[in-house]
Amino acid sequence: MANVREVVKDLYWIGVNDHRTDIFERIHPIPEGVSYNSYVLLDEKTVLFDTVDFEFAPYFLDNLDHVLNGRPLDYIIINHWEPDHASTFQEVILRHPEATVISTEKGFYFMTQFNYHCEKRITVGTGDTFSSGKHNFAFVQMPMVHWPEPMATLDTTNGVLFSADAFGSFKALDGHLFDDEVDWDRDWLEPGRRYLTNIVGKYGAYVQAVLKVAATLPIKILCPLHGVIWRKNLGYILDKYDKWSSYTPEDNGVMIVYGSMYGNTEQVALKLASEIVQRGVTDVTVWDVSNTHMSYLISEAFRVGHIILASPTYNLGVYPPMKNFLNDMVALNMQNRTVGIIENGTWAPTSGAEMKKILDQMFNIFYLDAEVSFMSSPDDTTDKEVAALADAVVASIEKQAE
Ligand code: FEO
Repeated sequence: MANVREVVKDLYWIGVNDHRTDIFERIHPIPEGVSYNSYVLLDEKTVLFDTVDFEFAPYFLDNLDHVLNGRPLDYIIINHWEPDHASTFQEVILRHPEATVISTEKGFYFMTQFNYHCEKRITVGTGDTFSSGKHNFAFVQMPMVHWPEPMATLDTTNGVLFSADAFGSFKALDGHLFDDEVDWDRDWLEPGRRYLTNIVGKYGAYVQAVLKVAATLPIKILCPLHGVIWRKNLGYILDKYDKWSSYTPEDNGVMIVYGSMYGNTEQVALKLASEIVQRGVTDVTVWDVSNTHMSYLISEAFRVGHIILASPTYNLGVYPPMKNFLNDMVALNMQNRTVGIIENGTWAPTSGAEMKKILDQMFNIFYLDAEVSFMSSPDDTTDKEVAALADAVVASIEKQAE
């Protein structure tokens, strides 16, 4: 049973939805699944754009057969060799030895490293072009979005850009395909941000470079390898990508992240949330660092401008789950945030200073001048420090909104 859809005249989506993988890359939970998108163009020559994860090969191959309908497969363009897209490549070659493979030089290196093989190949790079008949293509290399080897392929005839991982998202399509068939703000914004920030967050400068090139191209439709195809509101996703990849907060909100062994630090974090909300700021979220997967914390950290970190002292350092979160922020190049500190310790509170040592590895991290430090459990002094920290948060938000 084939499950395909027409994207534009002669171009078909032949991808698959994955509801079987619980943890993407064995790191990131994907409770709503993910799609692996692949496309076929029926021109004077036929062209396949990327493949899918091998676990779904039978469905994908059915889709491919259905669309080809007996025609040979003339070309396979591989924009990205990561196995979530390319692990069915060899099976396609076995079935279609007539196909010529088009990819980048580094892409073909990776192909060999993954032990895939093909005889007929064309190596392309930025500035190279190709024609399948009526359709003409231009290639643009996209190093580090998200591996070193990807490229984007622009069909200059109709403005369709095959953008590899760029503009992709977690979350299975489940029958939807285009941005105008979903409520993106409601259903896709969080998985889209969580995908981009966790998968490509470290390489914001490279995404920025892609956006600069994209601005010069006559793009009408974005066909990524995950998530919805953008055909209506391209400006929306380009703006989001611009913010995420430039580490610019999407919203002037507050994220309070706490670690708490016995509940005392948690109570102070919750009190701070209440104090901030009572001062008129409603975009306040509170997260337990011990039971929230890192990918959600990273996504929220990319969303808001203010991050409050509340940590017990543990082995004279930062509470380990909080330390993991901070180290992940460093690894993903987090920048341009205002940070507030809450520390707790029973005999030697040092978590505040130790958190700053990690935070100082990031660019443009500004500290609020009010901080909270208490020993074991909060008292009246803590109340005053929490109120002062809430004042500082609100003042900072108002200043940034000016
Ligand atoms: Fe969706 Fe970098 O692979």
